[in-house]
Amino acid sequence: MRAVTANLFALIFLCALASVFYMWSALENRLERHKRRFPAPGGGSFHQGLPVDLSAKTFRALLAVPAAQRPHMESKQESLNHTDRTASAGSLDYHVNGDNKRSARRKGPVKLDSPVEDGIFWSEWLEDLFPVGFTEEYAQTWRERARTYRIVKLEPGCGRISNQLATFADGTKACVRYGINADQVQGETLTYYLASLLGITNLPPLILSQLNSDSEQWAAVRTRLDGLQWSGRAVVSLTEWVSNLTGVITPAPLRQESSGLHPVLEDLWNKTTAELLELMQWTDLIIFDYLTANFDRLVSNLFSLQWDSRVMERDTNNLLKTPRGDLVFIDNEAGLVHGFRVLNMWEKYHNTVLSSVCVFRKRTTQRVAELHRRRDSRKRLLELYRDSEPLSVELGFLSDEHAGVLQDRIDRLYKHILHCKSKYSQL
Ligand SMILES: Nc1ncnc2c1ncn2[C@@H]1O[C@H](COP(=O)(O)OP(=O)(O)O)[C@@H](O)[C@H]1O
Ligand SMILES: [Mg+2]
Repeated sequence: MRAVTANLFALIFLCALASVFYMWSALENRLERHKRRFPAPGGGSFHQGLPVDLSAKTFRALLAVPAAQRPHMESKQESLNHTDRTASAGSLDYHVNGDNKRSARRKGPVKLDSPVEDGIFWSEWLEDLFPVGFTEEYAQTWRERARTYRIVKLEPGCGRISNQLATFADGTKACVRYGINADQVQGETLTYYLASLLGITNLPPLILSQLNSDSEQWAAVRTRLDGLQWSGRAVVSLTEWVSNLTGVITPAPLRQESSGLHPVLEDLWNKTTAELLELMQWTDLIIFDYLTANFDRLVSNLFSLQWDSRVMERDTNNLLKTPRGDLVFIDNEAGLVHGFRVLNMWEKYHNTVLSSVCVFRKRTTQRVAELHRRRDSRKRLLELYRDSEPLSVELGFLSDEHAGVLQDRIDRLYKHILHCKSKYSQL
């Protein structure tokens, strides 16, 4: 009898527990739903991805949407792009291109067209939606502040030990690259300015800094610098640290098994707008890595295919993405200097990657054509670097030989673009 009573009590106790648990989960679900309706504290919600109705539709489906609804979608995209926050030393913000004519066109009648126009160029309607990463104004503001802000903390968090995550006095952050030798900091810095010449805005703003013993900027982390054994005379680079970045897998048309990214690719018509915008950024990346001979991104993946057949299914080296889908090109230290030194080893892979692409952003190719026509890439890169970076003389510039290699790559890239044009323009 006692055993029966004990079992009965145990059963009642279990039922009571189960109903408390059920009520608690229901309450929690409601709380969670309630929470999601509010933006994250600290304005952390400014990149919430593309609006569902835009990103979830393929380009074909988007065409089927009545024209009257489209400007509304675009303005959604625009409001996502547009935030009024000013640049602090390390907080990322994205800005729509300040070009008034373009934003006016964005609001005007929408021309329904193919993803590609004039044979080999991404269409203008895509250009109008193209995310402008770090605008020149934004980068300039960041650079000015980063030069004056004191660094209060140095810790791991930016990859290998020779890179450190620095916290500025205002709480914002930057990745410091010490570099095993000056080549690397030079490569990182000069590729940054080359991107600027090409109008590529996917690289976080960068400054140079010297670790002198009388430097106010480094005074608070002197002990840490000693611990790292960083030489007091070294020139290091600081790039803006960007929060919430994730890895990026190489898109299918750019993998080795594919026929490449060209204007007649059937698949382009099935892409969502978000996917097309990402592919556009990839075409800039391929041009950029070809010119700088940076092997430490897509090219190193190609190389690794020899022993790792699934390498393309993993994240691409030194490439990250914001929640909105903007690509961020980090760690460019292999570019220009080191990349040119080891060209013999990597050139065939650079050529393979470049020849797999025959669609480009018109604006980028215009800049390439200009650098080709005027043959002044050395002069323009040097002027921009000297005018923007007070420590340019300390760090130095490309050797004449490497400046020649750069101009040569610009000319070859130009020829490749012409080849694509002649191949696809008549179609
Ligand atoms: N500007 C940045 N913003 C945010 N995270 C960064 C930034 N730069 C580097 N990181 C982080 O550090 C990791 C390693 O960076 P990377 O510069 O490639 O270092 P390494 O020189 O060791 O290859 C990246 O994968 C990323 O997680
Ligand atoms: Mg890296």
